[in-house]
Parts: sequence; C-alpha cells; structure tokens
Amino acid sequence: MPTHADGQWWQHAVFYQVYVRSFADSDGDGIGDLDGIRSRLGYLELLGVDALWLTPFFTSPMADHGYDVADPRDVDPVFGDLEKFDLLVAEAHERGIRVTIDLVPNHTSDQHPWFVAAVEAGPGSPERDRYWFRPGPYPPNNWTSIFGGPAWSQLPDGDWYLHLFAPEQPDLNWANPEVAADLERTLRFWLDRGVDGFRIDVAHGMAKPESLPDMDPSLIDQSEILHENAIDPRFDNDDVHEVHRLIRKVLDGYPNTMAVGEIWVKGDDRFARYLRPDELHLGFNFRLVDADFDADAVRTAIEGSLRAAADSTPTWTLSNHDVVRHVTRYGDGELGLRRARAMTLVEFALPGALYLYNGEELGLPTVELPEWALQDPVWVRSGHTKRGRDGSRIPVPWEGTEPPYGFSSNADTWLPMPLEWASFTVEAQLEDENSTLSLYRHAIEIRKSHPAFAGTEIEWYGAPAGCFAFRRKGGGLICALNTSSAPVPIPPGEVLLASEPLVDGQLPPDAAVWLV
Ligand code: NOJ
Repeated sequence: MPTHADGQWWQHAVFYQVYVRSFADSDGDGIGDLDGIRSRLGYLELLGVDALWLTPFFTSPMADHGYDVADPRDVDPVFGDLEKFDLLVAEAHERGIRVTIDLVPNHTSDQHPWFVAAVEAGPGSPERDRYWFRPGPYPPNNWTSIFGGPAWSQLPDGDWYLHLFAPEQPDLNWANPEVAADLERTLRFWLDRGVDGFRIDVAHGMAKPESLPDMDPSLIDQSEILHENAIDPRFDNDDVHEVHRLIRKVLDGYPNTMAVGEIWVKGDDRFARYLRPDELHLGFNFRLVDADFDADAVRTAIEGSLRAAADSTPTWTLSNHDVVRHVTRYGDGELGLRRARAMTLVEFALPGALYLYNGEELGLPTVELPEWALQDPVWVRSGHTKRGRDGSRIPVPWEGTEPPYGFSSNADTWLPMPLEWASFTVEAQLEDENSTLSLYRHAIEIRKSHPAFAGTEIEWYGAPAGCFAFRRKGGGLICALNTSSAPVPIPPGEVLLASEPLVDGQLPPDAAVWLV
C-alpha cells in the first residue's frame, strides 16, 4: 500500500486555487494580476501549499471573467503578459510550489478568431463546423443554458448557435478534428513553459449527441450552475472520454504533470470513468460542498467519494469560486466559522489531494453585495433573479484596517470589499495562534510531516449520535467530529490539533480533533 510520502506528488498535494482577479493587484487597476500573485508567493510558501491552480488569465473579453477565452495561448493585458507568467512559474518553482492552470475546452469566447470567422463565413461554411450551428427558424432543441435562458442564440442570418453557458461562450464541436488539434497545441504551449498541470473546465461537457435530443422538460427550470442530473443529454456523453484520453496522452510526454477535471456527474460509477488509467489523474469532488454540517451527511459524502475514487486518488474541497463559501453555508457569523474550522480538520485528515480556495484559510464568508456591484453573468442572465457568484469572489484582504486592505493601491476594487473585514486580514491573523490562518498552517504542516497520515484507507469507529470518528489505517491518525449540541468524550490518544479548545477533556459541539 502506498504511504503518504510515496506515489506521485499530486496524490497527496494541497492545491490552492488562486482566483486571479481577486488575489493581489500589482498595478493599481483594482483587479488582481500575475505580478500580484508573484509578490505574494512568500505567503503561499509560509502557508505550506504544494501547488497553485490559477483560474483563467488568458486573453478574454471577460463576459464570464476569463472563462470566455479569445486566445488560449496568451495572457490578457489585465493580468500581465507571457513574460510575467514565465517569471511567476520560475519563482513559484524556486519556492517549491507547482503551478497548474485552467483549460477551457468546452467553449471559446465569441471574440475568438474562430467564432468571428464563423459568423462572417455564413451558414454551411467549414468555419461554422467548429461550433454547433443549426439553421432556423426555431432553436434545434429545448436545451437551456446553465446561466439561465435558452442555450441557443440566433444570428441575423438565421442560424442558431449553441452555448451551454453565456451567449458569449459558444460551444465547440469536438467532432471537428481541428478542435482537438488546437487543444493539443495549447497544452504543449503551456507545458513547454513549465506548467505542472491543468484543471479542465466542464470536463463532462465537451461531447454532445449529434442528434441533439431534447432534454427532459422537468430539468428546464433547474439549470443551476452545473447541477448534476442523470438524464441530461448536454453532459456526460461517452465521447467526452476521447478528449480526456487525448489530454492524458500529451501529459504522459511531460513527466510529473497532471490534470484534474471539473466533473459534475451523477453516480460513483460515472465519476470513476473519468479517472481510468488513460484519462484524468484527479476528479474534482463536490460531495463535501453539497453536504450539510451533519455527521451522517458528511460521512455519507466521504464514503461516496472514496468509492468513486477507489481505483484512483480521492480529492476534497469545501469551497470554490462558483459556490457559497463554506463558512456561510454552515451558519451565521461565529457559528459558521466554528463549523468551517471543524470541517477543515475533517478534510485535511482524509487521504488524497486537497483543493483550497483563496481566502478560506482566513475564514472569509460569502458577502451579500449591493446590486449595483454585481457582475456575474448568472445575475445578468437570470434577469436579476439569482444573485450569482460575485459574493464568493471578493478580493483577498492582506493588511490594514480598511478597504482595499493591501489588495490594491486603488480603493476602487473590481468588487467592493466590506468595511468590516479588518479582522480577516493576513496581517491580523498571522501571529495569532488561535486564528483560522494559524489553524490552516498547522494542519498543512502536520499533514505533510506526521507519519500518522500514512496510508490511503480509513476505518470508522462507533460514535455518539451526531458525531463520527475515523482512523487512517496506515499511520493511525484519528479524526473525530462533533455536530451534535453537547460535548462528547474523545477517543483515546494524544491530541495533535483541535479546531476549538477541548472542554474538560471533551470535544465541544461544532468542533473536530486529531489524535494519535
Ligand atoms: C466552470 C467554472 O468554474 C465557472 O466559473 C464557469 O462559469 C463555467 N465553468 C463556464 O466556463
């Protein structure tokens, strides 16, 4: 059985998602950029993360904040340039931090030269065959966009084109060989510049059935962001695995590189198919995101995750730029934070790779922004009925007592920063042993160095109602969680780390502990 120290680096890595717009702004335009990230590498080293995942920084009109890519092989001037990217990779590597980047193979921007040419070339042209164009007078089927509204938009010449997201994000036709060839070029372009891997956007989305069958009408009103469902012809079609085999083949030529897929599919078996030996190395696992703060729900999520990755490597994540941050999901104010800290210890005790989202180590909540500030296409497309994801994308507060908290020299940040965030800054938390930042630093350090974390299997103990405890079979680490409303006795052992101080030797409510 592999131990913690064995295997490939990504099998036990702590990945840190940098939402590039919101991490650090070096040039005072109020938007984060590559030089900003480089200036904060010391912090990331101190935190102890193994690898970064950078959200899209490619040339883009920013209709979906970079997930609408106009040139996948260049840097948008808002974020820097290729030289700055190379410097960032070089300095990260010097500090022992790997760099992985987003890849968006399902769609392009409507400003991508291919789409511009397709619009110009007219119906029936080879240029249109790189996308999903169909003649009018009606849309070819009833598909809806994940961001709301129909998934088809019509051009003045009568043709409809498919966009599973915003109209500015036309879906590529993966049956056209030029599409695969171009992706291979993009992969090699960044691999040759030294990146260590990719996060594949909408990894379950690229293939569509040629006949474009209707979706079940009952799904039409449920098109929330990438929600899983079993009978949805838009996603998880078998041909998508060819794309992952292509990606894997390229990566296999570059030692120590990896790919993780954003995979929303129903069922462990369907998920596992993406992790076959000739496909992706890792699959994003949203089960902890979906689970309430309840011991049974969390245990079910963990068991399902381990089943789905039985022949590969499990991954764990509590938050990202598309969901409500876990502090806010778990409850108001202090309660939410307390529970979030407990879940951090649960997550870090599990075997496999972790994905952290920038700011979670500071205990940042999702913010209810004023309507004038909202920018997300989900907000725009829903006719302002859904607030969208902006509240989870507020810039990171670094220091000082008022906005922009060292994020930028410009107080006019791309999303406004709350006035009451002074206690969340890195500066305020760094030296405070009880801060959430200190909890993360300790958890990462112990997880990395303590032999109790060896092995890839866990076993469950009996536990009081509302609680659970599991043990890492290899190294023997025990993790106990209390989601009940009363303190409970802890399993025997020496305490390594606790999310809250123990009370008379017992684990208080909304808390977790590690023991050996
Ligand atoms: C998933 C990304 O995480 C999300 O932010 C984006 O809007 C969609 N894919 C479309 O690219």
